[in-house]
Amino acid sequence: MRLRFIVAPLLKWFAENARDLPWRRTRDPYAIWVSEIMLQQTQVKTVIPYWERWMNRLPDVAALANAREDTVIKLWEGLGYYSRARNMQKAARLIRDEHGGRFPRDLAGVLALPGVGRYTGGAICSIAYNQPEPIVDGNVIRVLTRVAGIEESPKAKPVLEQIWAIADDLVKQTVARQQSCQRNASAFNQAMMELGALVCTPRNPRCDVCPLKGRCVARKENKTDRIPALAKRAAATKRRYVGFAILWRGKVFVQRRPDGVVNAGYWEFPNWEVAADAEPAALAKGNLSLGQVELEPLCVVNHSITRYRNRLEMFVIRAARKPRLAKLGGEWLPLAKLDEIPLTAAHRKVAGRLLDAEKC
Ligand code: ADE
Repeated sequence: MRLRFIVAPLLKWFAENARDLPWRRTRDPYAIWVSEIMLQQTQVKTVIPYWERWMNRLPDVAALANAREDTVIKLWEGLGYYSRARNMQKAARLIRDEHGGRFPRDLAGVLALPGVGRYTGGAICSIAYNQPEPIVDGNVIRVLTRVAGIEESPKAKPVLEQIWAIADDLVKQTVARQQSCQRNASAFNQAMMELGALVCTPRNPRCDVCPLKGRCVARKENKTDRIPALAKRAAATKRRYVGFAILWRGKVFVQRRPDGVVNAGYWEFPNWEVAADAEPAALAKGNLSLGQVELEPLCVVNHSITRYRNRLEMFVIRAARKPRLAKLGGEWLPLAKLDEIPLTAAHRKVAGRLLDAEKC
């Protein structure tokens, strides 16, 4: 299927409506790569300050490759899906060690970097180098299935492949129309994503202002709420955790999550996943060997990750003598230093509550 008629109106619309985003002011493949990885699963407005902090602290591949791992994961704190940050540092080291420090310039080289898949590879090559490589993300899927009236679920492999083929045909078309100082492959790919983000939204699309409204099958047939056909979400699963902020002489006990587990490298307060009817006091007694202690409720943090709805119940324990927690593995950290270590989002909230409660 060819939808070549959308290229010209989309390019025009993008020229007039593109948001002024900081990574759109550069063609540096490193800067664009950082933005694309951050934008996976994360909204533009959240990403902007992270991207700016990251680019100030780690302005190029060499800086990232040579940075301490702690620096990298601290810069990522709060963005979630932390393997993205680790993969970026691995990729930067590979570029330093095997590409003489130069960011790869072709799709195969970009795709060989850890953490870079078909979408990100296409995004970097088209946006940084203006190469006519296609990209397909959730926004592009929505725009193309609606314009073309594709009613089958894009979760089905052949349907998704069809969408990639359309995107490929379109981006190649843009170059044929390109004049000397335009960068059409870059503009076209970003225009599709931008239209999906600003106009062709999942619910209540703003068809009245859409540059493609005259040719859109979903609009003509009143099917924007059915296209794209998305499978039902997996049912949410509740999980309950109980954790302890153990205080002793102005310090709090924290543990570093080991390599190879989810959120590796981030710190947290000791906590356990427990049954719905578990007693926090019994848990403290069994796992902390502190003898008889009083638990002061501190806060409850609800956080979602993929299909999990996690509830973390936190208690403060004040120890008179130094607790022996060696077998737990961890460190006593002065409360004032909690801001400096990388904590996962839920535990950053707990830290905020703890510092408030302790008036630090
Ligand atoms: N989402 C991810 N990258 C984007 C970009 N460059 N423009 C618009 N939306 C995006």
